[in-house]
Order: sequence, then C-alpha cells, then structure tokens
Amino acid sequence: MSRSRILTFVVLAVVTALPLSADGPATFKSKCAACHGQDGKGETAMGKKLGIRSLASKEVQKQSDADLLAITKKGKNKMPAYDGKIPENDVKAVVAHIRTLAQK
Ligand code: HEC
Repeated sequence: MSRSRILTFVVLAVVTALPLSADGPATFKSKCAACHGQDGKGETAMGKKLGIRSLASKEVQKQSDADLLAITKKGKNKMPAYDGKIPENDVKAVVAHIRTLAQK
C-alpha cells in the first residue's frame, strides 16, 4: 500500500467511526425518548402510562451520576436495563445529556 492509500484508509476509518463514538443526545433520542420524551420530561404516552418522573426535575437531578448510570444499566421497575445493549461510553454520554436537561 502506498502512503497516501494508508492515509486515506486511516481518515476513512476515523470518519466512519465517529457516529459510533459516544453521542449522548443521539443515543437519548434513539433509545430513551420514546418513553422519556426528547426533553426528558416524560410527557409521552408511555411516560404518562408508566408514571415516569421528569428527568429534568430536581428529584432526578439530585441523584449522583453513579446513581443515574446504575439505573440506566440495571433498569428500575418498568425501566429497561441497558447494560450490554449500549456501549459503556454511550451510557456515560447519555447521563451527561440528562444533566443538560435539568430545569434551570
Ligand atoms: C420502555 C420505556 C423506557 C425507556 C425506553 C427508557 N426508560 Fe428510563 N425509565 C422508565 C420508567 C418507567 C422509569 C421509572 C422507573 C421507576 O422509578 O419506577 C424510568 C426511569 C429512569 C431514570 C430514573 C429517573 C428517576 O425517577 O429517578 C433514569 C435515569 C432513566 N430512566 C434513564 C433512561 C435512559 C438513559 C434511557 C435510554 C438509554 C431510558 N431511561 C429509556 C422507562 C423507560
């Protein structure tokens, strides 16, 4: 392989890997919003049916990152467990995204 081909290969590998890297908002939108709503407030048909608290609320936000991470991974009552279903980095990114939803 010539050097430019190797370079092209490397660049392509990085570019194609980017969407797979941790993207909190995208993961939230695809995996969580159906129940929690795009804004995390749980104002969805599922959210209302399951009685989900708003992720933006103080009650949820006062929990530690470790708590939110554990709930996301292990699930809680009707909340499905995501351990092994989404990569660890995405779980972290999604928790970071939940922080951005906090009511100001
Ligand atoms: C099938 C619907 C559903 C999906 C999809 C879902 N959740 Fe939940 N989630 C729930 C329900 C129901 C609860 C409330 C559990 C309880 O407290 O009884 C909950 C609770 C939570 C809580 C705790 C909130 C609190 O009240 O303390 C967090 C954090 C959370 N979900 C994060 C996520 C994340 C992150 C995702 C996506 C990776 C996700 N959820 C996807 C249904 C869902």
